[in-house]
Amino acid sequence: MTPSYQVVDGFRIAKAFSPDTFRKALSYKPRNDDLFIVTFPKCGTTWTQHIVINILKRGIPPETFKEFQRLSPFLDITGPGVVETMPRPGAIKTHLPFNLQPYSPQAKYIYVARNPFDCCVSFYHHTKEFPFYQFSDGTFDEYFDIFINGQTDYGDYFDHLLSWYEHREDPNVLFLVYEKMKADTQAAVLKIAKFLNQEYEHMFLKDENLMERIIRHTSVENMKKSTNEHFGSFFGLSPNDDQLKDPELPEGLKHILEFMKNIEFTPKPEIKIVRKGIVGDWKGHFSLPQSNRLMAKFRQKIQGTDIDKLWPEFFVAK
Ligand code: A3P
Repeated sequence: MTPSYQVVDGFRIAKAFSPDTFRKALSYKPRNDDLFIVTFPKCGTTWTQHIVINILKRGIPPETFKEFQRLSPFLDITGPGVVETMPRPGAIKTHLPFNLQPYSPQAKYIYVARNPFDCCVSFYHHTKEFPFYQFSDGTFDEYFDIFINGQTDYGDYFDHLLSWYEHREDPNVLFLVYEKMKADTQAAVLKIAKFLNQEYEHMFLKDENLMERIIRHTSVENMKKSTNEHFGSFFGLSPNDDQLKDPELPEGLKHILEFMKNIEFTPKPEIKIVRKGIVGDWKGHFSLPQSNRLMAKFRQKIQGTDIDKLWPEFFVAK
């Protein structure tokens, strides 16, 4: 069983996405004050979006999910129109490899990387959760083969990582690692604040409860409450006419709802975008041959780089 994908100009995306909106997204011209949050899917995008927005809003979380989406729109599916109406400062989400990413040396980019094992497991659950992939009965073994062959949506995990790793020291790029964010979230929050603007960094000196509030608002537990039901109500249920007629509904989202109208699926009032949020979940999913295969690809793809230092636990000599 294969999830419903399509290839647009040589790049694989979910079949439910609008090719037209995707092409428009790729041709978006960044403004000098644009901030992007970029990841390969399932590497901590939503968490980073919440941290950034909490910093930009000085420790006040978005009041509603709608506000969150307005402040941090997903360029690839909603298209540039939504970015143009984004209140500023905001943060634009994309999942694009560097060669496709709308780029300007003046704009800023936060890239988050996560180890390929946990990313694969998380992406597997994601693909089963969203009805538009039509993969709810898919098995991990089936998904693993697709992932290791670089045939998931957004292409090859390693090519994506390598494309941004090359830019990790560019002054307008902040390269973060999910596992390091988990190990020391406060340090990650401060790093992000400093990268955004020194004024944000100084905010933490003036407001001694700010860090505690941000960590609390962006915890796995709180984010489950503020995220999963909203994804469910939009992407997990049969679209109704009111939703489709909403004049504010971006073209790309309308396309997804129209796609969903034409498929059969079991409704899901919750979609677990925020699932476990831990490091090492892969150990309960991979067989030994699968972990050996992914490790072999990992070693081969990162040859000539020091990416092994990002996740030394995978590279300990036996
Ligand atoms: P798991 O599926 O392994 O639990 P993305 O936002 O890029 O789709 O990434 C989703 C992954 O980030 C999921 O991983 C999710 O649980 C995890 N995540 C979401 N919120 C988190 C948080 N506040 N802290 C840590 N991980 C979080």
